[in-house]
Amino acid sequence: MQLPLFLANIGQLLTLHSASSGPGPRRGPALKDLGIIENAAVLCLAGKIVSVGTTKDALRDPWLKRNRKKVIEIDCAGKVVLPGFVDSHTHPVFLSPRLVDFEKRVEGASYEEIAAAGGGIRSSLEGVRKSKKQVLVEKVLAALRDMAAHGTTTVEAKSGYGLTVESELKSLEAISEAAKRWRGTVVATLLGAHVVPKEFQDCSQKYVETVCKEMIPPAARRKLAQFADVFCDKGAFTPEETAQIFEAAEEHGLGVRAHMGQLSGTALQPFFRFNPASFDHMDHLSDDDVLQLSKHDTIVTLLPGANYFLGLKTHPHARKLIDAGVPVALATDYNPGTSPTLNMTMAMSLACTHMKMSPAEVITASTINGAWALRVADRKGTLEPGKDADLAIFAVEDYREIPYWFGINRCAMTVINGIVEYAG
Ligand code: NIG
Ligand code: FE
Repeated sequence: MQLPLFLANIGQLLTLHSASSGPGPRRGPALKDLGIIENAAVLCLAGKIVSVGTTKDALRDPWLKRNRKKVIEIDCAGKVVLPGFVDSHTHPVFLSPRLVDFEKRVEGASYEEIAAAGGGIRSSLEGVRKSKKQVLVEKVLAALRDMAAHGTTTVEAKSGYGLTVESELKSLEAISEAAKRWRGTVVATLLGAHVVPKEFQDCSQKYVETVCKEMIPPAARRKLAQFADVFCDKGAFTPEETAQIFEAAEEHGLGVRAHMGQLSGTALQPFFRFNPASFDHMDHLSDDDVLQLSKHDTIVTLLPGANYFLGLKTHPHARKLIDAGVPVALATDYNPGTSPTLNMTMAMSLACTHMKMSPAEVITASTINGAWALRVADRKGTLEPGKDADLAIFAVEDYREIPYWFGINRCAMTVINGIVEYAG
C-alpha cells in the first residue's frame, strides 16, 4: 500500500493553475501565469494530487490531523516546487556519442556538410542495428533516470536510429521495456522517417512505402508508439512524403508530429488537416505559418539545445510566436548529433538568454504546454487536485533561479506518482 505524501513549507509552489486562460494550451500572456502559492503544501494520495494550498490551511485539515502519523512528510524548507518537467522531444535510442562529428564541427564543418560526408544521423545507424535489444533498453533507462534526476517526469521518446523495419521495432520495444522499469510516463514515437537510409538512396519513395506499410502498422497494432514523426526538411523528407506518412499514421490511429523548419522553411498549411500534435524546431517560419499556427492547437516545440550545440548564431523565434498567440513548448531534443543534453533547465536557460522568453514563460512551456504537445494535459503539467502527483523540488528560493543557474543541477528531489523517485 502506497503511503500518502505531504510536502510542507514550500517557499513557492508553482501550481500552473491559470484562472485567466481558457481550455487548451497556454498562449500569449497566459504563459506567464504560474499560479504561485507561497508558504505552500501539497498532499498526494494514491499517486494523485489531493490538495494544494498554504501550509497553514493544510495543517488545519481534519483528515491530515487524524492521519499525520501514517503520512510521509517532507519539509521543503522554503524550496520551490513545480510540476515535473514534460520533455516532449527526445531521441534516447542510440548507442554512442558522435564525437567525430563534434570535433569536425568545432573545426568549422556544418551539420549538413558532416551529414553529406557520411556523418550525422546515418552514422548512428550501425550501432543500433547491431545492438542487442537489451543493450538499448539499458541506454534508454539510464537516460530516463538521469532525466528524473534533473526534474523530468514525463518524456517523449523517439526511435529513428535504426531505419530498418526490424531495428525501428526493436528501438520501440527498447523504449517500452525501459518505460516499464521507470516510474515516470513515456510517450513513444516512431521516427522511421528520420532520413532515407543509404540502401534506399536512389529510391526514397520505396523507403517511404516501407515506413507506411511495414513500420507504422505493427508499431500501431502492438501499441509500441502513440505518434509518428517525420523529419520534413531538405536532405530528409519532402512535404509530399511527409503527408503520405501522416496519412498512413492517421489510418492506423497514430497521432502525428514533425521536425519542421530546422534547416529550411516548409509551408505548414497543408498539414493541419492531420491535426498534428506539434511541429518541432521551427527555426524557419513564414508570416503565414505564424498566422496558421495561431488558429490551431498544434504546439510549436522549441529546441534551443540544438542551436546551441550546432553553434548557430540564430535561435528559434519564440517572441514572434508567443506574441502572435501560438502555443509553444520547450524540450531538450536529447540526441547524439545536435543536442546531447537531457537537462530541461539548460533548454530553459537558453530560451531566456537567446530567445527572450521570460522565466515564467519557460516554465509554462516546459510543463503544461509540453503536456499538451504529448496530449497528456488531462493528467500532467499542472499541480491541481486529480492530476498525477509528479513534482520537482528545486533547491532555490525563487522560481526565476531555475533558468538562471545554467549548467548546474539544482533539482533536489523528484516525485513521480506520489513516490520519491530521486533525492539529490
Ligand atoms: O532534432 N533533425 C533531426 N533530428 C535530430 C537530429 C538527429 C541527429 O543529428 O542525430 C534533431 O535535431
Ligand atoms: Fe529531434
